[in-house]
Amino acid sequence: MKGWVAAFPRQWRDAMMIAEAIQVPRAYQKTAHLVVAGMGGSGMGGDLLQDLLRHDPRGPIIVNHTYDLPGWVGSSSVVGLVSYSGDTEETLAVYRAARSRKAKVFCITSGGRLAAMAARDRVPLALIPSGYPPRAALGYTFLSLVKVAQRLGWGPSLWRDAKETASRLERWAVSYERGRTARLMKSWARRWAGQPVLIMTTEDRRSVGLRWKNQWNENAKSLAYVVTLPEMDHNEVVGWGHSMRSHLRRWTLVCLRDRRDHSRIQMRFGITRAMWRKVGGQSYEVWSEGQSPMARAMSHIYFGDWLSVYLAEVGGVAATPVPPITWLKQQLSRP
Ligand code: F6R
Repeated sequence: MKGWVAAFPRQWRDAMMIAEAIQVPRAYQKTAHLVVAGMGGSGMGGDLLQDLLRHDPRGPIIVNHTYDLPGWVGSSSVVGLVSYSGDTEETLAVYRAARSRKAKVFCITSGGRLAAMAARDRVPLALIPSGYPPRAALGYTFLSLVKVAQRLGWGPSLWRDAKETASRLERWAVSYERGRTARLMKSWARRWAGQPVLIMTTEDRRSVGLRWKNQWNENAKSLAYVVTLPEMDHNEVVGWGHSMRSHLRRWTLVCLRDRRDHSRIQMRFGITRAMWRKVGGQSYEVWSEGQSPMARAMSHIYFGDWLSVYLAEVGGVAATPVPPITWLKQQLSRP
């Protein structure tokens, strides 16, 4: 996994080149909304895109992480199916549902049944390089989605932001692998090893927290949960009662901070963290870097990816294989 994480800046540039070639039929362009369907590492690009397009006047983007589609999806919907392997049953079920509802469909995959079905049905298909664990191919899945969304009229500045992100990723890679930040991450990994992590982010940057959580789970084989401000201040904090103290003392809180957050959110981070200190274990802050929202989101994501790899090293676990996911898929594929 470490090799893929280290090579991520190169993947990002390669993904930009591949994505440039993606074309979308003219008939798709009038649609009012976009639904992105995908699971796990493949769904992540959709979650991130949804957050980045939250304020886009073009209309809503919905991310679908299950077998069926919302009732309103029909012939005026564009449905993007993302499955790295092309064999994930939830995504294949959504493909069939979208086709039967006459939605305008496109697929992003490295092969499998999804590629075969798209070829059979002459559905637009972005074929991305194979050989990666799906979660390590985020550059390919996310940037393909960005390009499709752009061709449909969403996010006019996203490609410029992707270019900024490309050059920043190259710089971050150096310091996250060998520099001062790498040393910091390794010392955090030693302190956090074996402890569950609570990731505190904001409602409009939920995808970043989700990526941290998923990388914690899959790379570090450890537990992590995401909570978002301001919503968590209306429920979660009550659960941090004194009866929970003995559990929470073993938890680590990580606050994902962004200088552009609403001033009231900035204030809530400070107050909520102080509440945690009274009952919980250690707490840390990670500030995003970069200019555009995409670069800032990717700075958090890339930081978390490295941290999860260092955590796996400290914990003595293999970061790449995910035996429980493989086992589950095998059980479910039994006739
Ligand atoms: C594995 C991973 C998983 C998969 C998920 C869906 O690296 O991240 O979360 O992404 O099981 O499979 P695909 O991506 O092949 O549709």
